[in-house]
Amino acid sequence: MADFVGAVDQGTTSSRFMIFDHDGNEVAKHQLEHTQILPRPGWVEHDPVEIWERTNVAIQNAVRSAGISPADLDAIGITNQRETTVVWDPRTGQPYCNAIVWQDTRTDRIAATLERDGHGDLIRRRAGLPPATYFSGGKLTWILENVDGVRAAAEQGHAVFGTTDSWVLWNLTGGPNGGIHATDVTNASRTMLMDLETLDWDDELLDLFGIPRAMLPVINPSSHPEAYGRTRTTRPLRRAVPITGVLGDQQAATVGQVCFAVGEAKNTYGTGNFLLLNTGTEPVRSRHGLITTVAYRFGDAPAVYALEGSIAVTGSAVQWLRDQLHAITDAAESERLAATVPDSGGAYFVPAFSGLFAPYWRSDARGAIVGLARYHTNGHLARATLEAICYQSRDVVEAMEQDSGVHLDVLRVDGGVTANDLCMQTQADILGVPVSRPVVAETTALGAAYAAGLATGFWRDTDELREHWHESKRWEPRWSEQRRAEGYAGWKKAVQRTLDWVEV
Ligand code: G3P
Repeated sequence: MADFVGAVDQGTTSSRFMIFDHDGNEVAKHQLEHTQILPRPGWVEHDPVEIWERTNVAIQNAVRSAGISPADLDAIGITNQRETTVVWDPRTGQPYCNAIVWQDTRTDRIAATLERDGHGDLIRRRAGLPPATYFSGGKLTWILENVDGVRAAAEQGHAVFGTTDSWVLWNLTGGPNGGIHATDVTNASRTMLMDLETLDWDDELLDLFGIPRAMLPVINPSSHPEAYGRTRTTRPLRRAVPITGVLGDQQAATVGQVCFAVGEAKNTYGTGNFLLLNTGTEPVRSRHGLITTVAYRFGDAPAVYALEGSIAVTGSAVQWLRDQLHAITDAAESERLAATVPDSGGAYFVPAFSGLFAPYWRSDARGAIVGLARYHTNGHLARATLEAICYQSRDVVEAMEQDSGVHLDVLRVDGGVTANDLCMQTQADILGVPVSRPVVAETTALGAAYAAGLATGFWRDTDELREHWHESKRWEPRWSEQRRAEGYAGWKKAVQRTLDWVEV
């Protein structure tokens, strides 16, 4: 058996390839950013060809920097930004248009019409999701309705759909020369098109969205020895390495954080924040604004479900401070700047740039900074930005506790923002619960590697994976109950302003 497992992590801002050893330790990584295309307010696009090219280079460079040969890779897993929608011509590999990214709100009218016409409950019941701009189904409808020639091409089998896992998989396995057009249950559960019980595309939902079934990929388990084929024998690896794991990035982080038991949860701090709670083999319906999603399905075992609190803008609010306001030059500076003041001075920043996701689900909300006085500085703004990350997480933790009755004793965290000490301390303060980060903070890629390695026997079972998890740091709450309650009450008022804004 080869000594390593590789993982592609095709994320919102970058694509990376990571290599792990048998103990789950990182051996090598290479990461390349891609362009964020922002043609109009609310629109966010990616160039799928750029993503594929960068993924290719990342794979080659990581293997080179590990000093290993592709033959040393036992298997590869793929994980991805979810919901981002690609439509391409399988004869040529050319996309028909840029990918529509999960943050894009151009489909707000499609979502609102579905709700207005009384289809919301069917979508909630069958797919576990509220009609919202976030999910892929409406994005695919938009492409079919607005990009010239796509509907006719789809009807002739010349236009196919995939989230970026499918796009990367199809290219890696040969593209127009026999590429595999597939996805996994976790990604399919983000489309509004899959029945959560049957784990298959649902004809009634496809009709509602006007989507021809022939465009859609085959839905496979997240971990499987054969379903995803092998890498083509040209670039990037020049060797047929089995691809045996595919799952959405937040589900992969759930696996990387070894949340295999009912009641175990993790919160990932990336472009957005995504809190997933393992609810076991029966889907639990939310009554408090969370969504029901598939956490993972390993081989022929039953699918395991999760309740998810999705937050659109957290780390990307820090990027906004850097790229649009030029208030900081790099993300780490947000911590230094926030540390120049003891608190936000009563100011709140609600970064509702893509509307508000969980638990509000208001595509029409827009961002606001409230409570400003002449006194406020960039330091207060930086602190309010970090607090916004934490308050939004408190919103979803509250919803999760109400839905599941599970009270978190500790919040397991991972993702880029967890390097920000002040933010993690603030998270513990705002929640009143300790926050714990593992040694391997790259849990997303690790989870994809785990899914791949479980399929080949590289790892025996989930108990073996549990042994790899070790805490690296824990933050204990320090705020008084009174400060916590007052701070949260102010946050709720600020959120209300962003919801009222559209009615002004
Ligand atoms: O649902 C969107 C999520 O998958 C994006 O994750 O880490 O690429 O921002 P990330």
